[in-house]
Amino acid sequence: MTPDHPRIRIDVHGNGGTSEECLEEIRKALLSSPRRLPTKYLYDDQGSALFEHICQLPEYYQTRTERQILAKSADEIVAHTRARELVELGSGAATKTRLLLNAMARANQLHRYIPFDVSEGIVRRVAQELIQEYESLEVYGVVGDFLTHLEHIPPGGRRLVAFLGGTIGNLQPEEAQAFLRSVHQEMAPGDFFLLGVQLITDTGRLEAAYNDRAGVTAAFNQNILRVMRAVAGADFHPEQFAHVARYNARQHRIEMSLRSLRDQDVRLTELDLTIHFARGEEILTEISTKYNRHHVEALLQSAGFVPVAWHTDPEHLHGLALARKP
Ligand code: SAH
Ligand code: TRP
Repeated sequence: MTPDHPRIRIDVHGNGGTSEECLEEIRKALLSSPRRLPTKYLYDDQGSALFEHICQLPEYYQTRTERQILAKSADEIVAHTRARELVELGSGAATKTRLLLNAMARANQLHRYIPFDVSEGIVRRVAQELIQEYESLEVYGVVGDFLTHLEHIPPGGRRLVAFLGGTIGNLQPEEAQAFLRSVHQEMAPGDFFLLGVQLITDTGRLEAAYNDRAGVTAAFNQNILRVMRAVAGADFHPEQFAHVARYNARQHRIEMSLRSLRDQDVRLTELDLTIHFARGEEILTEISTKYNRHHVEALLQSAGFVPVAWHTDPEHLHGLALARKP
């Protein structure tokens, strides 16, 4: 909790040192075949700043496209939901969120915003920004893992829960299903869920979005190794791992990895573990799944939601599915 402002409250969960559970999750991921790292570690303060930069890159069309859809549809979405509160999972810098908040303010429905993110720094910054931008808005920030800490969302009024940016695509298929079910469980009947998804498009365009010329995505990817220094005492040298992002057409997803540039041993003191990486060996750090409308609506239905509206851009690069908990 922070008493910095009477309209701000921030709860931090599962932070302050890396728990045994988190260390075990890292061990399991690194020792699995192929090797992996849990995605949430991409987003420390530096990772969040790099991601904000990615969102402005010419190749990364996703953010612009979602913003364009929201600019056109936010009033309609807000009118449909009659929500008084916006809960946002993986809220990050909450840039596009302003379009929803503005629409709520126009409709005289804006009372509280609840950003939920693993990155504590960005939740605090967004809370400060928003109470200045919106007179009388209350911000209740939740810092935690949306895969395990959803029950910490405070109870409240009629709600719209938003999960934007295509972040759902960063979850493994079975994780995404379980996640949607737990979101559904946390919501009250009559609440609405707004899900942003990236749509399947041509491979060249998709791969370019994750291999930008300025190398920002590469730096973002390599940052996870720096985070591993802090959380697991790992002596990774990020420059000895190359950024790789390829489209897997069978599973319609971008797979992002770090490829060892030489034979090397990495010691992880917090895990009491040494791992040998052969030259060319890869660590999977992120997937980014692309969908079509049918796939998304089926996913929502299997979690108990009723899809009520679909908004997209003229090129069908991105979709916003609005669903209701009956
Ligand atoms: N919604 C923003 C940011 C998307 S990036 C946008 O559309 O631009 C994904 C966001 O989810 C990041 O801010 C990251 O910190 C957060 N995130 C990733 N994994 C998370 C997890 N397991 N729990 C909570 N937040 C997570
Ligand atoms: N949700 C974003 C996406 O899948 C996250 C993202 C964008 C990302 N660029 C990235 C994740 C690069 C890892 C690496 O598009």
